[in-house]
Amino acid sequence: MKTMFSGMQPTGAPHVGNWLGALKNWVGLAKDYDSIFCIVDLHAMTVEYEPALLRERIRNLAAVFLASGLPAPEHCPLFVQSHVQEHTQLAWIFNTVTPMGELGRMTQFKDKAAQHAKNINTGLFTYPLLQAADILLYKGEVVPVGEDQVQHIELARIVARKFNNRFGEFFAEPKEIVTKGSRILGLDGKAKMSKSLGNHIEITEDPDSIRTKLKGAVTDPKRMRRSDPGDPSVCNMFTLHKHFSTPEQQEWAASGCRAAGIGCFDCKKVLADNMIEQLAPIREKALDWIARPKDLDDVLDQGAKACRARAQKTMDGVRALTGL
Ligand code: TYM
Repeated sequence: MKTMFSGMQPTGAPHVGNWLGALKNWVGLAKDYDSIFCIVDLHAMTVEYEPALLRERIRNLAAVFLASGLPAPEHCPLFVQSHVQEHTQLAWIFNTVTPMGELGRMTQFKDKAAQHAKNINTGLFTYPLLQAADILLYKGEVVPVGEDQVQHIELARIVARKFNNRFGEFFAEPKEIVTKGSRILGLDGKAKMSKSLGNHIEITEDPDSIRTKLKGAVTDPKRMRRSDPGDPSVCNMFTLHKHFSTPEQQEWAASGCRAAGIGCFDCKKVLADNMIEQLAPIREKALDWIARPKDLDDVLDQGAKACRARAQKTMDGVRALTGL
């Protein structure tokens, strides 16, 4: 079985983009691979955050993972990055084989540096090396991610190659798995859905709030009046229909929009009903997990224990090759 690794930052409640672009695929793929899933708290430290909230966010993220059907801990470890110290050790070694130019061209660094102009810390710059360490520490071969992370996986391949060239063949080059929901736009219809842009719907958002947010979401900007025909291919609501609605409902929405037979209000109502129905069981199970923090901690502890053993084995090999 190939090894699969993926992670998510506990920077806030996970959203529909995280679900469609990552989590839903993780759940679908988990049993076909030797899978490992990680809550990357050290990565989350690269932007301003409130220390008192971090633990709660980690637990909440674990709760959503489990509520979404991730088969942890039975079939795959789920753990917190900082609980396995080898991640930062390997990241340091990768720092020593990676030219700065490789990091400077990362689009996520450029975007985040622009977004957090007052806090362009070194961690933000070397972020992809910690990500490469996450994957390569477990000799990860496949990495299911959304489109925005593809460049980081490419860099992980470069890092593996640089290490192998310098110290001898050791790491295999990982490959990304990108699926259909790989780039979900936010409610503004412009930028990708993101916690930091506030254009998102949380996976555990309550139904009333989902309805209110969708009501205010941007549609085809050229459709100003109910009587104007619209173009579903430029409407983010239609993209969401493709993920949440039946083929018949999608056809109803597309043809009704084109002919101005339905209004955006009608279209959004059906979308909201479907989204609420599909997210409701996750929300319910997540709230149940959140009410049992000790059980959550047990799952994460088990995950860290399993991963520590594997990480130490890799680091033994790295130490031997690097002369440490
Ligand atoms: P993060 O926490 O930003 O996002 C987690 C996953 O969700 C995907 N995603 C999206 N997919 C579709 N549409 C969107 N609007 C959207 N927003 C987010 C991301 O592509 C990602 O797959 N650097 C990573 C975390 C990480 C990691 C790793 C991932 C750290 N180490 C090792 C894989 C392997 C990140 O910031 O994800």
